[in-house]
Amino acid sequence: MDIEEVLQIANHLTFTTTGQQLDSLQKSILRGAWDNQKYREIAQRNHRSEKYIKEVGFKLWKLLSVALEEDVSKLNFRSRWEKWIASNISNSGHCVQIGNGNVNMCGETLQSSEVPQKRSPKTPQNSQPTAKMPQIDLGDAPEPNLFYNRTSELTTLKQWILENRTRLITIYGLSGIGKTALTLQLIPQIQQEFDYIIYRSLRNSPPLQTLQTNLIQFLCRGGAPVPAAEERGTTGGLPLLEYLRSSRCLLILDDIQTIFSSGQLAGNYQPGYENYGTFFKQLAESSHNSCLILLSWEKPREIAALEGENRPCKSLPLNGLGSEAQEIVREKGLAEPDKWSELIDLYRGNPLSLNIVSTMIQDLFGGSVSEFFSYDTLFLGDLESLLEQQCDRLFDSEKQVISWLASEVEPVEISKISANLELSPSTLLQAVQSLGRRLLIEKVKQGEKTLFTLQPVLMEYVKNQFLKFG
Ligand SMILES: Nc1ncnc2c1ncn2[C@@H]1O[C@H](COP(=O)(O)OP(=O)(O)OP(=O)(O)O)[C@@H](O)[C@H]1O
Ligand SMILES: [Mg+2]
Repeated sequence: MDIEEVLQIANHLTFTTTGQQLDSLQKSILRGAWDNQKYREIAQRNHRSEKYIKEVGFKLWKLLSVALEEDVSKLNFRSRWEKWIASNISNSGHCVQIGNGNVNMCGETLQSSEVPQKRSPKTPQNSQPTAKMPQIDLGDAPEPNLFYNRTSELTTLKQWILENRTRLITIYGLSGIGKTALTLQLIPQIQQEFDYIIYRSLRNSPPLQTLQTNLIQFLCRGGAPVPAAEERGTTGGLPLLEYLRSSRCLLILDDIQTIFSSGQLAGNYQPGYENYGTFFKQLAESSHNSCLILLSWEKPREIAALEGENRPCKSLPLNGLGSEAQEIVREKGLAEPDKWSELIDLYRGNPLSLNIVSTMIQDLFGGSVSEFFSYDTLFLGDLESLLEQQCDRLFDSEKQVISWLASEVEPVEISKISANLELSPSTLLQAVQSLGRRLLIEKVKQGEKTLFTLQPVLMEYVKNQFLKFG
């Protein structure tokens, strides 16, 4: 067995026994342990401190000890693994039994975290899966990485999905805030409730028809009951809807901003993609047991009209991490912990921003946060291109509002924005609402009043681009 097979099986094992998948650092530690490398060598290869690698390793061995039901350590990992494999390989030598499912080892490429639990094709009569192991196809979802907190968001999502039976959930927020990471973290916590779990990114803007064909192919391969001919199309909906009615599916569509028009108010479909809006609406309004999660930079326009306290459609604006973001900074080995909360607040707890800026502080200032603060300008680095992509999507009136807000140090009332821009009241209100649907504007409560401002990183970016926006 080569190390790639070991990693795939180990990943599947930890996923099914503890609900956690292995991230790239954990896999690297396993590789090192397999080859009898020292922690120091593994640390060098991963550009991390030896102390940090030991900490991660310690948790990893605990995780594997649970999965293998053996006391696993770095020293004995290989021998314990080989012993475990020997006692779990079937007589044919081809299958490792894990829980209720099989991991096929006869040459089929296993996708990490998406190992399908092979079941025999079902007839409509016995079509409901008996074991609570869903068929999972995570497509090209990114590998899970280190993940901190988000307990309250996970609790809310679980409540919506499991208790309230919410049918359509939109998680929206800025690039890098953690929408994809959060959703991948959610899957193992609710997977037993579903027959099928499918993740697809719409980053290449597939027409709805193409997406539908792709999803139905997976559902059919997995043995989903084919809706009867007379059922298909009777409700005027898409055939995919019938599949989502006949099985309990969790469908995650990521990067859906790509089907919205750039240079328009938030959540307007590109020409030719309006049928996605109809599909989302039908999914929210018609009766079924499936759940669709949309991940987006902007909230689709029709969602506002569909959501509500007792309605099966909800949206979660995702803001940054709070104090838990300290773990990201700690992991990067920055000095002066007393300055970390200021740094986190400056970047509004955006995990991607903090990863980028912490690496820069480590590279340029040897980890000294105060030295970084001694520079007047806020570092954007690679964030600049992300902000550019998001700001390029804005409608003219939105650009005018954020350009003006960037010149104001303190949060302001909407009437003050209105007094300073030549926009009609309805155009201004539309622009502010649309910026809110992209989470590009911050609301600050001051007594009874609501004030508006931009987060520091965006303010810095807009100031630099001021002339461009005019
Ligand atoms: N809770 C978290 N703890 C630690 N790291 C996190 C957390 N959430 C996200 N990250 C990391 O931050 C980065 C950005 O996360 P992610 O890709 O999920 O953002 P996103 O909101 O989906 O961005 P985009 O809209 O550009 O796709 C990733 O490297 C991810 O591993
Ligand atoms: Mg994402």
